Amino acid sequence: MNIEVSYDDLIPNNVDLSGDPKLKRALEQWHPGYIDWWKTAGPDGYQEDEVYLRTAVSVDPKGWAKFGYVKMPEYRWGVLLSPAIEGRTIPFGEHKGEPAWQEVPGEYRSLMRRLIVIQGDTEPASVEQQRALGATAPSLYDLRNLFQVNVEEGRHLWAMVYLLQKYFGRDGREEAAALLERRSGHDDNPRMLGAFNEKTPDWLSFFMFTFFTDRDGKMQLDSLAQSGFDPLSRTCRFMLTEEAHHMFVGETGVGRVIQRTCEGMKEAGIDDPYDIEAIRKLGLIDLPTLQKKAWLHYSLSMDLFGAEVSTNAANAFNSGIKGRFQETKIDDDHQLLNDTYPVLKKVGDKFEFVDTPALSALNGRLRDDYSGDCEKGVGRWNKIIEKAGVDFKLKLSHSAFNRKIGEFSEIEATPDGDILTADEWEARKDEFLPNPSDMDYITSLMKPVYGIGEYANWIAAPKVGIDNKPGDFEYVRLDQS
Ligand SMILES: [Fe+2]
Ligand SMILES: [Fe+2]
Repeated sequence: MNIEVSYDDLIPNNVDLSGDPKLKRALEQWHPGYIDWWKTAGPDGYQEDEVYLRTAVSVDPKGWAKFGYVKMPEYRWGVLLSPAIEGRTIPFGEHKGEPAWQEVPGEYRSLMRRLIVIQGDTEPASVEQQRALGATAPSLYDLRNLFQVNVEEGRHLWAMVYLLQKYFGRDGREEAAALLERRSGHDDNPRMLGAFNEKTPDWLSFFMFTFFTDRDGKMQLDSLAQSGFDPLSRTCRFMLTEEAHHMFVGETGVGRVIQRTCEGMKEAGIDDPYDIEAIRKLGLIDLPTLQKKAWLHYSLSMDLFGAEVSTNAANAFNSGIKGRFQETKIDDDHQLLNDTYPVLKKVGDKFEFVDTPALSALNGRLRDDYSGDCEKGVGRWNKIIEKAGVDFKLKLSHSAFNRKIGEFSEIEATPDGDILTADEWEARKDEFLPNPSDMDYITSLMKPVYGIGEYANWIAAPKVGIDNKPGDFEYVRLDQS
């Protein structure tokens, strides 16, 4: 297995593409359509500008990336797998302990293909959602981070297309083509999952999206990295290395907004975080609005885990295709035949944990793991507020809040988990979710700040630069042509 990536081919890879002419041909045929998709549905503008991007040159976790100026359409998207683990066995399910599969078992073909297509579909979707953001970045640093996330989501699409084309024959090639045809938010041919058809209209939404929705990606990729199908496992393991940066962009992005708001309040002598008018007069984003945005993105992202109780999830686990988050670190029999898991349900007019067969509760469990991961990030945001001496605490919403899928899709609840009637929800939802005037205000702040080392008024500068670059580094060279 190559750690180094071959850049001799048109498509950089460490899967010996030149030794597999059939696959090479399929990928090369798909390539022009991908470039066309990138240019028409990817970042609007900036395609001729030089962006300081990292490109994967190896899959060694310590030194896999090289930084340099690249024009985005010339980014070296490629097929990169983490090294094979010698003697790896299937870690869970009914085949536990058998050698990991190097080919797709016939009986699991359609289930496996479906999971790969759903994961693959989210990758280009987020690029489409973020397409217009280049027009209004709060700094060149942020503009560069947006484009880094975008090119890597593009590479994640390549990763899934590789699997489809190599292991799923003609069906796989058709699915690979369809991945370039669907469009986020399209009336007739939308992306497959709800949150990936929502708009990402402004930079606060982008930071919330990369914190909450890319984190769903992390959870899904981690569970697929456990897979008994070894090529899927290795592909996802490398994708996780890139994914970490996306969540860094989200967490530090929101963190910098919080910091700037708290500093600005202090400078102006405003103690009350709910004095929204005064805070907005300073051109800052008030913490209550940040809280609403967080609840919106958190609740939309929770829907991505699917119904808490699901036979599909049970089948995917039992057959060894998709494991739990950090499966190999869990201390149990990894088969779950007689285990239960507490799933929060509405029982009468209360919420209660109900012991449910663990196999069918796997989506619920993954979503709980996700919530725990989000919680840690929110805790770090609260540290910033606390340090600034502002009396406000961000929190996650109750899992019944604003849900469209699963146990709570038929009911309404407040972020604290008080059940509401449909009428009460209609009357009060503007208290909980960003309302049109909140969104208008956020939109009014979205003006590009593209001076070197400058930042928009509503966000603090980062503590350290990308690749340890100094504060006055030119992350994107605009208008070089
Ligand atoms: Fe991704
Ligand atoms: Fe991502």
